[in-house]
Amino acid sequence: MARVAEAVASSESRATDRRDAWWLAPVSVAVGLGVLGLYLFWAAAQNGNFRFENYLSPVYSPEVHPSWWPISPAFLILLPPLFFRTTCYYYRKAYYRAFFWDPPACAVGEPHRNYTGEVKFPFILQNMHRFSFYLAAFWLIFLWYDVFEAFRFASGFGVGLGSLVILASTGTLTLYTLSCHSWRHMVGGKLDCFSCTASARSRHGVWQRVTHLNEHHQLFAWISLFAVTAADVYVRLLAMGVIHDVRLL
Ligand code: FES
Repeated sequence: MARVAEAVASSESRATDRRDAWWLAPVSVAVGLGVLGLYLFWAAAQNGNFRFENYLSPVYSPEVHPSWWPISPAFLILLPPLFFRTTCYYYRKAYYRAFFWDPPACAVGEPHRNYTGEVKFPFILQNMHRFSFYLAAFWLIFLWYDVFEAFRFASGFGVGLGSLVILASTGTLTLYTLSCHSWRHMVGGKLDCFSCTASARSRHGVWQRVTHLNEHHQLFAWISLFAVTAADVYVRLLAMGVIHDVRLL
């Protein structure tokens, strides 16, 4: 008991006993999310150069301009994807560590006296992640329509570099969505027996596939964020006349 008390006192007085570069992960996340987040905010605020012929930036998809909305429509369009990302189990860990230092890493002291969890506003909204999944899954319909359009040129079917960039954006967003922890629970949760009925057996098969995707959820979270940003940059540069699309087919 004395040793435990000593260890607790010791951990309170020192940030950590870790000697490895534990700070590297939270700092990298802060830089990555900071840079990509700032770019996407800037792109959303532009309200222009988001379409080039049959290519539409995912930041402005679906392309709507409600008359009652006074600012860039991207700030409306991005609400469901933003809700999905900010409540994501992986991102929560990442940005709590990177921005709130709460705690910055395992076995590292934090600058907060009390742990309040996610029971108060605004963090209580994190519990709505399942609902944000429904919205994000619905949003994929618009994004896959954009992929279809990206391969449909005035001359008919074709493949440009932009088609592939938009396909990569939506493809990785789909992997990110389908690897969601909430989706995995919806597919295979609340079952006591996976082998007892035909429907439970098929759910088990789907659950195994979703579990495989779920193991790479962090990777999909990052590559989809990069891919969305890259797609916006590519379409924007085309629309501004800075570059020309490479037509592959
Ligand atoms: S847990 Fe990350 S999107 Fe659901």
